[in-house]
Amino acid sequence: MASFFKPAAARQALRAASQVARPAVRPVRPSLTINTRALSTTARLQKDEDPKKRLTTDTPQGASGAHEGAFARTDDSVVIEYPADEEMPRSPVVQGRGGMHFKRTLASFSLENRVSVVTGGARGLGLVMGQALVASGSDLAIVDLNKEEAEDQAKKLVAQFKEENPGLEELPRVTAHYADVSDPDSVNNVLADIIAQHGKIDHLVTSAGFTENFDAISYPYDRIKKLWGVNVDGTYLFATGIAKHLMERNAPGSIVMIGSMSGAIVNVPQPQAPYNAAKAAVRHLAASLAVEWAGANIRVNCISPGYMLTALTKKILDENPELNKKWTSLIPQGKMGTPEDLMGAVTFLLSDASRYITGADLRVDGGYTVT
Ligand SMILES: NC(=O)c1ccc[n+]([C@@H]2O[C@H](COP(=O)([O-])OP(=O)(O)OC[C@H]3O[C@@H](n4cnc5c(N)ncnc54)[C@H](O)[C@@H]3O)[C@@H](O)[C@H]2O)c1
Repeated sequence: MASFFKPAAARQALRAASQVARPAVRPVRPSLTINTRALSTTARLQKDEDPKKRLTTDTPQGASGAHEGAFARTDDSVVIEYPADEEMPRSPVVQGRGGMHFKRTLASFSLENRVSVVTGGARGLGLVMGQALVASGSDLAIVDLNKEEAEDQAKKLVAQFKEENPGLEELPRVTAHYADVSDPDSVNNVLADIIAQHGKIDHLVTSAGFTENFDAISYPYDRIKKLWGVNVDGTYLFATGIAKHLMERNAPGSIVMIGSMSGAIVNVPQPQAPYNAAKAAVRHLAASLAVEWAGANIRVNCISPGYMLTALTKKILDENPELNKKWTSLIPQGKMGTPEDLMGAVTFLLSDASRYITGADLRVDGGYTVT
């Protein structure tokens, strides 16, 4: 090792010596151009010119009317704190979306014989995406802070599957596990527990995450740290833990990170700078890990949902009816999405149907981010 660094050290010494020898003030070279005008100039007003007739954006604030910027600014008066656990509404298991059917479909969309992990899978989008994976043939490990609810939902998912697939003898294996995704020890423990129960892990969906609204200056710092811890660290810890497991097995795998359209645009009117930054981080983390693990046959993609109607967003909108109007007026499709709208997207990105897609961000937002 020592000999490896010697030439580099010698080069550095030489470079340092030549820098010392270089004169501090370089001689001025004669200019090759004959143009002596400054690079940027502002034309002066002519004496008899009417300033009102000139085309300029330099108008005083309010000159265009009271509506100025009204649809494009955040409003500091919107404050929505993430509710305490006992106030959280429960999510119902989706009915009538899975089951046997006789429509022809590509076999590459199937997740049969796979084991998938969904973080934040006890509620909301995670629960419904987990259900999509089960309907597509995968076994499932639901990971959540709220183990009791995860256990309850695991039972309901299997019961629903049974109802929709009468006569099928082999039922999917759906297990429930506790973890705080922002805590490395908790993540390591839960991964070992899942591997012990299922024998392996092939897929990951990181849906544990939350948002809340405070203006940036009064946002309590401990809450920002918690938000980044769950949304960013939690995604990172699960992805690296499962990639390590896949590499040890020398097995292919795929990961879907749940970002948000907030990682690409700034939502209005509710202020949520730390959440937006967290979701931008998730999107670029997916791209970065996709490149890092492409050689190991592990694909990493991101889904960025727009406004989705979960039990929690319904509660927020019931308490803030004005928000509903503002949000839907900004969505080209004119309505919020439902968690079921993510079922196909997540199955596609995990399955072999998307085997040449990695590092992508799939926006499921009713067109919000294209306007
Ligand atoms: N609902 C939307 O409109 C929307 C839009 C874009 C993105 N998203 C993102 O989708 C993901 C899911 O959101 P949702 O609307 O389903 O939320 P949700 O609150 O309904 O569900 C989130 C789940 O994550 C769990 N969770 C929270 N912190 C955790 C932690 N530290 N460890 C383990 N589990 C934890 C919760 O217990 C809950 O079960 C989030 O990342 C969210 O940012 C949601």
